[in-house]
Amino acid sequence: MNWRIKSLDDSLALAEKRGLHRTLGGFQLMMLGVGAVIGTGIFVLTAEAAQKAGPGMMLSFVIAGFVCAVTALCYAELSSMVPVSGSAYTYSYSVLGEVVAWVVGWALILEYAVAASAVSVGWSNYFIPLVERSFDVDIPVFLSRGYYSGGPGGLINLPAVCIALLVTWLLLIGTRESARVNAVLVSIKIIALTIFIVLSVPVMQMDNFEPFAPLGFGGISAAAASIFFAYVGFDAVSTAAEETKNPQRNLPIGLIGSLVICTIFYLLVAAGAIGSIGAQPVLDAAGAGLAPGSREMGEVCAQAVNSGALACSDEPLAHVLRQLGWERVSRLIGLAAFLALPSVILMMLFGQTRIFFAMSRDRLLPDVLSDIHPKYKTPHVVTLITGTFVTAAAAFFPVGKLADISNSGTLFAFFTVALGVMALRKSDPDRTRHFRTPFVGVVGPLALLGCAYLFVSLSLYTQLLFVGWTVFGLIIYRFYGYRRSPYASVREQ
Ligand code: ALA
Repeated sequence: MNWRIKSLDDSLALAEKRGLHRTLGGFQLMMLGVGAVIGTGIFVLTAEAAQKAGPGMMLSFVIAGFVCAVTALCYAELSSMVPVSGSAYTYSYSVLGEVVAWVVGWALILEYAVAASAVSVGWSNYFIPLVERSFDVDIPVFLSRGYYSGGPGGLINLPAVCIALLVTWLLLIGTRESARVNAVLVSIKIIALTIFIVLSVPVMQMDNFEPFAPLGFGGISAAAASIFFAYVGFDAVSTAAEETKNPQRNLPIGLIGSLVICTIFYLLVAAGAIGSIGAQPVLDAAGAGLAPGSREMGEVCAQAVNSGALACSDEPLAHVLRQLGWERVSRLIGLAAFLALPSVILMMLFGQTRIFFAMSRDRLLPDVLSDIHPKYKTPHVVTLITGTFVTAAAAFFPVGKLADISNSGTLFAFFTVALGVMALRKSDPDRTRHFRTPFVGVVGPLALLGCAYLFVSLSLYTQLLFVGWTVFGLIIYRFYGYRRSPYASVREQ
């Protein structure tokens, strides 16, 4: 195995030589962050969290947010030291060595590409009822649910396919245009969540918070591991490092600023949803919680008595407002999700292409992936390939499973970032740090523990899938990247 380390200076020099254009400032980065973060997690997975934790999902949001906050502090230090494309992948290469970097890059595929698929499916959850209600049409089930999505009759999620392809095209035509479109969509999202809060929080009833944890702390942990998805994406800001003006100042602003904004919104939205219509999970005959997305849960939710349950809704925020009698406004929320969730897909795809770009530049993936389009100045080959895979996954799989899989990769990457910050403080204490993680002796270990805790709270199925994916990646590395890497010749001597 190869533990060779690419020095930080090498990373920076290579970026100068084969670099992208620097166009993004601090505010734009924060907008990119919020654009990447607020999405399917809050708009769709709130229902899944309610099913797992009941009102205790408030605590799940706090736990997941806390883990992200401590990790963001670690991200900020590393990304302001190594402002080049590739995020956790590049940092691990510089600090923990090539093989770890490869595993992290490989895990980031789960984080970004699978997340892009998950959000595409989440978008279609809002799109379908919006179209059906507005135009009084019925979209057939075989065109609106993926084959593996649990419910009967699903074949392909056509709306999810269309949106994934559209976003791929947006990215192909260039970062700058994409960032501008993004800023408008972020505003729409913020306005929608604000309207939701204004209409739901004042009608909260404290009774709806009882019982607070119907499925125990295990349920709250499981919901935290899933709802963690709602925070994923703030790190995508760091993947834009190479396109950022004055990254030493702007990256920490983008990372931490976007996380703070999102956490405040999430807690208010969760409180509004729970307090206004209740959030108790649906149970089987024996009183046990049903698995979200399972056939049994589908059957129980189909019973009239459960039609109002938050946990049963595919579009929970619109559902809450409808239950409260705000039918028109609920459609507007649907419209906002319809317009704005694509900005999340955009950010995820953007992050993925930039990571592949960095891995290819390091020769761990084929050179052609780092080709830059002569006119649009974007890595067009890798964008097209990534877009194709994202579209395929969105076509056939359900949002909850995709989100959990994405979380497994993300948690692994976050874990290595925290490890990296601590390792670098020891190995290279004198290097200039434009942002220093405060109390790194406490924050670093908390990030490590938090990521490990959320990872083990994921379903066993998800954990095993992650292990399988990693082993598969290591085999590819052994027979491809290991031989082509710039360090291959060093090893042979
Ligand atoms: N955090 C992003 C979302 O919730 C990925 O959609």
